[in-house]
Amino acid sequence: MCGIIGYVGKESAAPILLEGLRKLEYRGYDSSGIAVMNGSNTIHTRKKKGRLQNLRDLVGENPPEGECGISHTRWATHGEPTDENAHPHLDQSGKLAIVHNGVIENYQPLRKALEAEGHVFHSQTDSEVLAHLVGKKYEASAESDATPQMRLVAAVRDALKLISGTYGIVTMHADIPGFLVGARLGSPLVVGLGKGENFLASDVSAIVSHTSDAIYLSDRDLVYMTDSDFKIEHVEGGSVEFEVSRVDFTPEQAEKGEYPHYMLKEIFEQPTTIANVFRGRLSDDEASAKLGGLNLTPQELRDVDRIVLVGCGTASHAAMAGEYIIEHLSRIPTEVEIASEFRYRNLPMDKNTLIFVISQSGETIDTLAAMREGQRKGHRVLSIVNSVGSTIARESDGGSYLYSGPEIGVAATKSFTSQVMMMSLLGLLLGRMRNLSMREGQRMLAEIRDLPAKVEMILQQTEKIRAIALKYIDAQGMLFLGRQFNFPTAMEGALKMKEISYIFASGHASAELKHGVIALITEDLPSVFIIPKDSVYDKNVSSLEEVKARKGPVIAITTEGNTDMEDIANDVIYIPEVDECLSPILSVIPLQLLSYHFAVARECDVDKPRNLAKSVTVE
Ligand code: F6R
Repeated sequence: MCGIIGYVGKESAAPILLEGLRKLEYRGYDSSGIAVMNGSNTIHTRKKKGRLQNLRDLVGENPPEGECGISHTRWATHGEPTDENAHPHLDQSGKLAIVHNGVIENYQPLRKALEAEGHVFHSQTDSEVLAHLVGKKYEASAESDATPQMRLVAAVRDALKLISGTYGIVTMHADIPGFLVGARLGSPLVVGLGKGENFLASDVSAIVSHTSDAIYLSDRDLVYMTDSDFKIEHVEGGSVEFEVSRVDFTPEQAEKGEYPHYMLKEIFEQPTTIANVFRGRLSDDEASAKLGGLNLTPQELRDVDRIVLVGCGTASHAAMAGEYIIEHLSRIPTEVEIASEFRYRNLPMDKNTLIFVISQSGETIDTLAAMREGQRKGHRVLSIVNSVGSTIARESDGGSYLYSGPEIGVAATKSFTSQVMMMSLLGLLLGRMRNLSMREGQRMLAEIRDLPAKVEMILQQTEKIRAIALKYIDAQGMLFLGRQFNFPTAMEGALKMKEISYIFASGHASAELKHGVIALITEDLPSVFIIPKDSVYDKNVSSLEEVKARKGPVIAITTEGNTDMEDIANDVIYIPEVDECLSPILSVIPLQLLSYHFAVARECDVDKPRNLAKSVTVE
């Protein structure tokens, strides 16, 4: 939520900042702005409401000159998306600029106190308060013997002591050319180390075209930098340990290439991303999976008697699929907790309960807080994360990366299938330590290895699925129904549809229809049934017939060769045969394509749906 990038070097800052914002736009896109400092002790600011292109148009006419600057793309928390509320914000003197990602909870009393002292505010944001506070502290140290650089660092420290909330900030002062100060608490910030230039950004995608050397800051880290040097300390003072990491993807991977949208590119990457999860993690000798990063001994894994899976949104749907899969393969009682509920609900757990937090970004604030809550209570919390070096990955007690590459489309697609794949490996590993036979384990390995080719076959139906989407283009709502392993898939299909096409959609266990939902059925409300030839197929058919009996149109997703559906459903999409516990990995693909084509046909911005942003770093 909100993207920030700062640059100090020898190049013109404005084009670098604008390009960085383009890479970060998925984090927020209701307004954006840049501030650039030049040698004449002046800061030039440009801000514009709306998409980044509006800022580009504005800057194009009159680009600010200078080799040091900061910039921001916003997802509004306090104050509507307007030019005034866009970042960067200036202090009372107009000489200090700041960009902020996070929420300052006590901004109102702070603002009132500053106003009483004569400070004039130009926005409704919480962030402008921070600019004024830092500026005030800086001015107050004018008589000090310290250098202007160290005065600014001290001012940031003093201001941050006064606020409660979360922040990822970068600031600069017109009196100190070529000098940036950043700090983080709860919102991500990465240092990029270049040759004769340095960067600060919300994530590495903004800087990977300039450098692959990054330092992922931890909470309460403070950094200050010039083009040739940097220092990282604790916000409260004192040194901290840090590590320089290599960014694990190329600039090209963060581009959409020949695809019209990131979402479509990411849907089509799934044969590769699913294989990335199991590559090197299957053991034929043991007919099992190897997940070394869990940091648990075989005995500790055998002692696990309960699993709690925690995540938000799509990750929570993947967790629901994981619940069915892990219980099926290992017989270990498994449950799913939505992260925002888990962190406040005080779930009773004994010492043999293993907690997994699941997150694509590794930065989702509720998932991070849930992890810390679990750890506070003495539990070992493992993570299933995509973003290498993210906060959850670093702070968890172990875990496994998905290695799916950057997911930039706001609607999660490849991360869902990778997460479900990972939990299938986990189920297999734990199952083989319990009751799952060698023969069953071997069969699962073969099934897993076949998945990428099967996904490829579904992707080839994209045009057929587009035609089905167009047929229902005027629908004002859609139901998604499935049972057992595919109940979570139904939930995920509904989330994809509503978030990118803005129609009402809901996912249900098919048999729940007659407990209320069936009242919605009319000939104008399409139902998507996920109905593979599995152990609950006949029961699922009964639910489908109940919808047909009430003239509800039905799109059926079923197993190849099951021609029965041609007679009952209005439209049929086929998926290859697969072990039923792995079927969510296949059945979700037509749902992703259906919602994608439906939203494109309705001229929705599928990569940047309204009101949303990727990586939810505010509560
Ligand atoms: C939906 C979507 C969100 C995320 C959720 C968790 O398409 O993208 O529901 O799944 O915000 O995000 P991560 O996985 O980054 O923790």
